[in-house]
Formats: sequence, C-alpha cells, structure tokens
Amino acid sequence: MVSTVATRAPVLEARNINKHFGPVHALKDVNLSVRPGEVLALIGDNGAGKSTLINVLTGVLPFDSGEIIFDGQPVRFSSPQDAREHGIETVYQDLAVAPHLDAVANIFLGREHRTGGLPGALGFLDNDRMRKETDEQLARLRVRVPDIERRLVTLSGGQRQGVAVARAVMWASKVVIMDEPTAALGVAQTAMVLDLVTQVRDTGIPVIFISHNMPNVFQVADRIVVLRLGEVVAELDPKTASIEDAVGAMTGSMRFARGEANQGE
Ligand SMILES: Nc1ncnc2c1ncn2[C@@H]1O[C@H](COP(=O)(O)OP(=O)(O)OP(=O)(O)O)[C@@H](O)[C@H]1O
Ligand SMILES: [Mg+2]
Repeated sequence: MVSTVATRAPVLEARNINKHFGPVHALKDVNLSVRPGEVLALIGDNGAGKSTLINVLTGVLPFDSGEIIFDGQPVRFSSPQDAREHGIETVYQDLAVAPHLDAVANIFLGREHRTGGLPGALGFLDNDRMRKETDEQLARLRVRVPDIERRLVTLSGGQRQGVAVARAVMWASKVVIMDEPTAALGVAQTAMVLDLVTQVRDTGIPVIFISHNMPNVFQVADRIVVLRLGEVVAELDPKTASIEDAVGAMTGSMRFARGEANQGE
C-alpha cells in the first residue's frame, strides 16, 4: 500500500499545550504534529512562541498543561539530553553549542568514543577516531570550519551554526528541529542548510524548521504552521498559499485575522 505523508502516524505531537511565563500566556492550546517524510515550517512574528514551543517539546522548559506524544506514547522529556537520547536533535536559536570546546568535542558531546580495553573503561577517549569522523561528517555535509580543533568561541557565528546543524543532522534518528538555523549564515551556507533539511526529510526523518525568511520557508516546507501571540492561527500549503498569505497570517493583517484568530477565545 502506498502511504502518503498525511496518513502516516505522527512521530512527535503537541496536544493542547499551554505555557505561561508569569502573566504572559506564551502558548495557548497549541496543537502541532510532524509525520515521517515532511518538513514542517513553524513561522510567526517575534515573540509568537516558536522557541517556547520547541523548548517545551524538547525538555528545555516544563509546560503547564496538555500532552506531548512521541511515537504514540505520552512523554515529558526531562532535559534536552533526554530528548536527544530519544532521537530528537535540535538546533536551538540561542545555539546550544559549547563555545569553549572545539568542533570535535561539540559533535561528540555526550556520545564520546572511548578507546578499547581497560583505558576505555577508565574513561580514555578515542580522539583520533572522533577527529577522523568529524572531518568526514563535516566534509560530507559540506560544513566548513577553519580547524576542527579550534574552540568554537574563536569561530564566526555562521561557522558555529554550521557545527550545530551538522551535529543535529548526524545524530537524529527520529526528528530534527531547527530554530532559525540560517540566521547567521551567508548565501552559500544557507543553501547548504536548506539542502540538508530536504536530505534529512528524504531519509524519512521529519524536520521542524523555523525561519523568518519566507522564500527559504517556501522553498523547503511541505506544510506551514503559523503561530501568533501563542496560538496556532493558520496552516498553509506552500504549494497553494503565497508569501503574502503567510505574512498576513503572522501579523493578523489579512483574511486570516478574522475567524481563525478567535479560535479558543
Ligand atoms: N524565559 C522566559 N521568561 C519570560 N518570558 C519569556 C521567556 N521566554 C520567552 N518568553 C516570552 O514568551 C513569548 C514567546 O517567546 P518566544 O521566544 O517563544 O518567541 P519566538 O516566536 O521564538 O520569537 P523570535 O522570532 O523572536 O525568536 C514572548 O512574549 C517572550 O517574551
Ligand atoms: Mg525564537
């Protein structure tokens, strides 16, 4: 039987999620799901709640009510590490790389190769193997850094972002989430990240992609979900919707402003 994306079971799902920061109702009954083989773009103006939703989904932040379903089961990841161990890799907007470590250490953070035998049991790391694999992976992903043994703090913002994207793509087995992965990137590196997004999707691993760049969103997305003031206000099909539709839904200035924005009030 041919299964289309729409009929596949979601890998990760938010159901009626609410999240407050003091008086700020940052997420209001948010529903979102991603299925194997799709790029879901999550868009919205500054402060709409995109990063909060990602943080809630991946165990960075607790939530007040609602449910997260992963592979059909309710979950509450206790930390980003917990989410990573379940195959969910995230490039966080605030770049959760370790700036004082080099690219090799960042890529293998928490997944270090140990040497064989007693030294390995004592915690000795197989640095040669990790260096070699880092070199291979970065070359395969066409991510360029001047020296994989230089601390990331000495690299440019774009180079650091490249390492964060490479790490996510390398290790994800279930979902890749990228929160503004191209914000610091030039034209060529942005094209590389967009290409990686579709490559990951084509292996069957869904991608949640957050960006303010509408041409980029329309280039890679299979589905676009719009958040405004903590609420999902629209879902758009990039094949039929226009950039104007997307901007209108984000700002509430067009036809999407009526009706859908009042849902749940
Ligand atoms: N740690 C926090 N403490 C208090 N308020 C927060 C915190 N994080 C986010 N908020 C508030 O929650 C709302 C949603 O913020 P969030 O960072 O999720 O927006 P966003 O859609 O990711 O915006 P951007 O496009 O600017 O990244 C905003 O009103 C923000 O001020
Ligand atoms: Mg954000």
